Amino acid sequence: MTKKFYITTPIYYPNGIPHIGHAYTTLATDILARYYKLQGYDTFFLTGTDEHGKKIEEASQEKGLNPKDFVDQLIPEFKSAWEKLNIKYDRFIRTSDVDHQAVVQNILQKVYDKGDIYLGKYEGWYCTACEAYYQEKDLENKCCPVHKKQVEWLEEETYFFKLSKYQNKIKELCESDIIVPVFRKDEILNRIKEGLKDLSISRKNLKWGIPLPFDENHTCYVWFDALTNYLTGIGYLENKDNFNKYWPADAHIMAKDILWFHTVIWFGILLSAELEIPKKVVAHGYWTLEGEKISKTTGNYITPQEMIDIAGLDSARYYLFSAMAFGQDGDINKNLVKEKHNTELANNLGNLVMRVSSLIEKSGLEQCENKILEKLDINKIQNHFANFELHKVLEDVFAFSTECNKFIDENATWKTKNKQELYQLADSIKTIAIILSPFMPDTSDNIAKTFNFEINWENISKPLEISEIKKSQPLFAKLL
Ligand code: MSP
Repeated sequence: MTKKFYITTPIYYPNGIPHIGHAYTTLATDILARYYKLQGYDTFFLTGTDEHGKKIEEASQEKGLNPKDFVDQLIPEFKSAWEKLNIKYDRFIRTSDVDHQAVVQNILQKVYDKGDIYLGKYEGWYCTACEAYYQEKDLENKCCPVHKKQVEWLEEETYFFKLSKYQNKIKELCESDIIVPVFRKDEILNRIKEGLKDLSISRKNLKWGIPLPFDENHTCYVWFDALTNYLTGIGYLENKDNFNKYWPADAHIMAKDILWFHTVIWFGILLSAELEIPKKVVAHGYWTLEGEKISKTTGNYITPQEMIDIAGLDSARYYLFSAMAFGQDGDINKNLVKEKHNTELANNLGNLVMRVSSLIEKSGLEQCENKILEKLDINKIQNHFANFELHKVLEDVFAFSTECNKFIDENATWKTKNKQELYQLADSIKTIAIILSPFMPDTSDNIAKTFNFEINWENISKPLEISEIKKSQPLFAKLL
């Protein structure tokens, strides 16, 4: 039976155009989906937009539009950004999709019938920017600690979800190996230890949302609605076979800001609805731009297109996954994007491919055992992927590319034009290109065309077949 891999991004708020932070998560998911596909897994990659709730309603009011018209004009911005970045998802879900509304209502009804939802009154603070409830002790001068925006006092009739009932089970799940990286576990566990309160999951005065099936006067809390997208996306109601094939998700990818929702709240909902728990919840760090927080309000942000314009698409993809250790924070520095492009891409990999293809064009090659490959540990690379340590994959592959260049210099292959040495180099380049293909698909395709091999994981262990090889075009133009 083919193994499956179901991977998701958060669904983004379409209250503005996507920036590099959103792009990074979506790219990480694309890289992982491509990798598992390369490994022969039946993969499903879901992304989309989170369209309901007060935040979107307020943003649409500012533009004088109704919320649906407002989000409709922003969706193409997301889709075209992902297309420009060569991101290949299987479904783009919108929480305004008709099938999603049905799934949210189905889950709400299930949880309600189980006795896990009750009517009460919420009195407390709410941050619309986070779409989250806050306790007084967590505020800074009546502002939310994340956006530093004034929170609002709410006092209204609401339905509560009995999150507290699942506290022990949620704690156990968070103690297991679901949360990646491991060091993020403690933050979550410490908060659980303070005690889980039941969660307000409905709003009476908010029209822009999905009505509760058991009380039409209330709309569903946006996070309950949003998390459920992971069920809708693979056909929870409309395509049961597909759902049963892909659920549980193998990995939910996101930044650290929303890990709480994807563990505590999401696990609570799934436990109540008697659905399996995702296998991994993966939280990466936050990007800053030139050392400053990325923010649309201050104008300190960079769009995917602007990032591509610095040094090209694959160079942008390379920078994002080599300049930041997955899980840690990182900084986008435009000069460093160029510098890395010139040294690591043009001088190292680009030069290797040019030199080797051009020497082979002149002298040909002769098949033999590839000894250079001993310097690359493929199992280690697979472990890096399995541990979501994408930067380590790039580190190892580029260190290997450096080794290949060193081999040419040490053996003076450029002078001897030894056909067996050239074969080993070409076969090594094949391996580099296959491993790099999830990160830099166009570059890998170009290399595969020059050296005449197909990109699939099995080809790593198959010796490169002898063919006529012509000097390649430069893979990366050097930048001034
Ligand atoms: N709509 C919710 C998610 C619901 S998922 C069921 C939401 N949307 S968001 O538009 O605010 O997106 C947050 C996510 O965007 C982060 O978790 C991360 O994936 C990405 N990022 C936004 N800014 C980022 C950085 N500066 N750096 C890295 N990732 C960032 O939360």
